Amino acid sequence: MDVKGLNYSCTSCHVTKAHQISGRCYSQPAPNKHQLALPKDDGERLACESCHSRSPHKKAELLNHHTDKVACQTCHIPSYARGGVFTKMWWDWSTAGKFDETGKAIVKKDEYGNLLFHSKKGDMGWALDVEPEYGWYNGSMSYFRASDKIPQGIEKIEINSLKGDYEDPKARIFPFKIMRGKQPYDPENRTLVIPYLAGKKGTGAYWGEYDWQKAAAVGMREAGLPFSGKVDFIESDMYWPITHMVAPKEQALSCEACHSRNGRLANLDGFYLPGRDRWPWLDRLAWMALGLTLLGLLLHGGLRFISSGRKKGGQS
Ligand code: HEC
Ligand code: HEC
Ligand code: HEC
Ligand code: HEC
Repeated sequence: MDVKGLNYSCTSCHVTKAHQISGRCYSQPAPNKHQLALPKDDGERLACESCHSRSPHKKAELLNHHTDKVACQTCHIPSYARGGVFTKMWWDWSTAGKFDETGKAIVKKDEYGNLLFHSKKGDMGWALDVEPEYGWYNGSMSYFRASDKIPQGIEKIEINSLKGDYEDPKARIFPFKIMRGKQPYDPENRTLVIPYLAGKKGTGAYWGEYDWQKAAAVGMREAGLPFSGKVDFIESDMYWPITHMVAPKEQALSCEACHSRNGRLANLDGFYLPGRDRWPWLDRLAWMALGLTLLGLLLHGGLRFISSGRKKGGQS
């Protein structure tokens, strides 16, 4: 979208037909029963490949070998929240509701103006230029629903979970921002609670009375869900696919970023990755293949260089 580059607008990629905007990361549309303008939401997918194809690299053929297992975004978005705009990484609702001695709201900000604490919202954390986290992803997710039970003994839930693994032909390694935080839940029914948040004193709203039990009782009643009367807090992860902020090609990930012991894919298991995993004989084979490929490239490039040199010579 760089104004000095292609100067794309959102709809250069998100091609729009009759109010149907293409490109949504989630298989289910957010509005369901209470849908507004559109009777149905086709949500056509959009991909880098729509314009670039699956083999966009002309110089390094080896990179094209990766595109069936590694998403374009993984190599081409080395970090997000670049260019000086912070992104929120952490939101802990359990610390909300604290006021100063005079009963006034406490508001703390860091030197850049990012909110670190607010009596209404709890603690927050921010970051700049963040390295994504990686996971196998086939374009679908499953969601933790209001009626789903939190399994016993679990200290953290996934609000949404990625589908796909190495064996899944549709899945590729994709970059994510993981939004972390703490959510209110019902420790007896073991469900997340839906608190009634914004409202006046006397309505049970959290921002009116700062009482999680009351806010959850109203919210859960409205949602038609059971509530035990108890509220506690649980940590949560939420996966946000990273697909914007493609960096200039020179900043794409280097081979070592992945093919090394402590590289970016160190925690992704279930498949063999040369340079990371210790199967020396297989490693040697893979690097031999790589060596041959590079040799091929060099020879190819060299021949092209020679022949283009000749052509130039012939023309002058
Ligand atoms: C270079 C192409 C490109 C441009 C330009 C672009 N997008 Fe996207 N956008 C994508 C792709 C690819 C996806 C992922 C779609 C998918 O996975 O189905 C996406 C996804 C999205 C999503 C869904 C995010 C989510 O988490 O579900 C939103 C919203 C969005 N874009 C808004 C915008 C807006 C607003 C602009 C302009 C400021 C914009 N996009 C410009 C390529 C682009
Ligand atoms: C394994 C990492 C990796 C993957 C996966 C990958 N790329 Fe690249 N890409 C690179 C690197 C590194 C460069 C820079 C190479 C160069 O220009 O010398 C590059 C260059 C490019 C260029 C500039 C053209 C060129 O040949 O110089 C485009 C366009 C591009 N990639 C698009 C894509 C798209 C679209 C996908 C997904 C289909 C993709 N890339 C997948 C690493 C990757
Ligand atoms: C609407 C078509 C379109 C879509 C969708 C699109 N691109 Fe591009 N992209 C282009 C064009 C045109 C260029 C400039 C010509 C070229 O280098 O191929 C470009 C250039 C690039 C470059 C080279 C940038 C440089 O430094 O020279 C990369 C890398 C790239 N795109 C990656 C991506 C990735 C990753 C996605 C998906 C998130 C994507 N593109 C989606 C049209 C598109
Ligand atoms: C984003 C991480 C990532 C980057 C960057 C990356 N690779 Fe890979 N590479 C992988 C993964 C994942 C596989 C395993 C794919 C499979 O098993 O199908 C792989 C497989 C390979 C293989 C063995 C399979 C084959 O296709 O021959 C070689 C060789 C290889 N990469 C070389 C490179 C080189 C050279 C670079 C830099 C130009 C590079 N890779 C950059 C992730 C990466």
